[in-house]
Amino acid sequence: MRLWERFLENKGRETFKCTHYFPIYERYFAPWKNRSLVFMEIGVNSGGSLQMWQRYFGPMARIVGIDINPECKQCEEPGIFVRIGDQSSPEFLQSVLDEFGVPDIVLDDGSHKMNDILTSFNFLYPRQHKNALYVIEDLCTSYWEEYGGGVHRQESFINIAKSLIDRLNADHTRGAIPADSFSKETLGMSFYDSMVVFEKGDVWWKEPLQTGRKAQQGIRGILQKIRG
Ligand SMILES: C[S@@+](CC[C@H](N)C(=O)[O-])C[C@H]1O[C@@H](n2cnc3c(N)ncnc32)[C@H](O)[C@@H]1O
Repeated sequence: MRLWERFLENKGRETFKCTHYFPIYERYFAPWKNRSLVFMEIGVNSGGSLQMWQRYFGPMARIVGIDINPECKQCEEPGIFVRIGDQSSPEFLQSVLDEFGVPDIVLDDGSHKMNDILTSFNFLYPRQHKNALYVIEDLCTSYWEEYGGGVHRQESFINIAKSLIDRLNADHTRGAIPADSFSKETLGMSFYDSMVVFEKGDVWWKEPLQTGRKAQQGIRGILQKIRG
C-alpha cells in the first residue's frame, strides 16, 4: 500500500502532514522498503507518523522518534522507539546514535525553528553514510519571523540551503569556494514547496569525459588508471 493510502486510511494515532509531501516521500523512501534501516523522525507529537513509517518500511526497520515532550514516550510499540530530548542538543543526538546507530534517513519535523533545524542538520548530516537521506519538512517557517526566518534573513534554512548549492558546485568556482566534506559527500539537493531533500553519495569521480573513436587514447589511459 502506498503511503498516501496509508495516511488517508489511518485509524491509529493522529498525524498531520501536507498532502503534497506524499509523492515526494514515495520518490525517495520507496527504495528503502523492506530493508534493514534506521529511520529517525525528529518530532513525534501523537505518534501517528511513526506508525505510518513502521508499516511502510516493514519489520526490518527501526523507527526512532525523538521529541522534547516526555509524553511522547507512550508512542513506543514494537519497531518504534522514542527518545526524549532536544533536537538542538548534540549530546542528546549522540546518545541516540550510540544506541541505534547512524540513521539511514532523517526526517526533521520537529520544532521548525531555524536554530534547531540547523543544529540537528550540522550534527547529523556529516555523520550519515553514503546513500543516506536527510529530509527537512515544513520549511515554510523559513519565511516566518517567529521561527527565526524571513525572506532575506541569512539564518533562514532556505537561505542556508541556497548557499549549500554553491558548496555542492565548489569544484567549478575556480577556487572561490573551497571543496569541503559537504561538496564531496553530497550527491544532490532537491527543493520542493516547504521541503529540502539532501542525498548523500560518495562522489569520488567527477570530471568531464569524452568517449568515441577519437578519444580512445584518453579512455585507455583512464581504464588503466581505474584497473590499477
Ligand atoms: C509537527 S509535530 C510532529 C508531528 C509528527 N511528526 C507527525 O507527523 O505526526 C512537532 C513535534 O516537535 C516537538 N518538538 C518541538 N521542539 C522540539 C525540540 N527542540 N526538540 C525535539 N522535539 C521538539 C514537539 O513537541 C512536537 O511534538
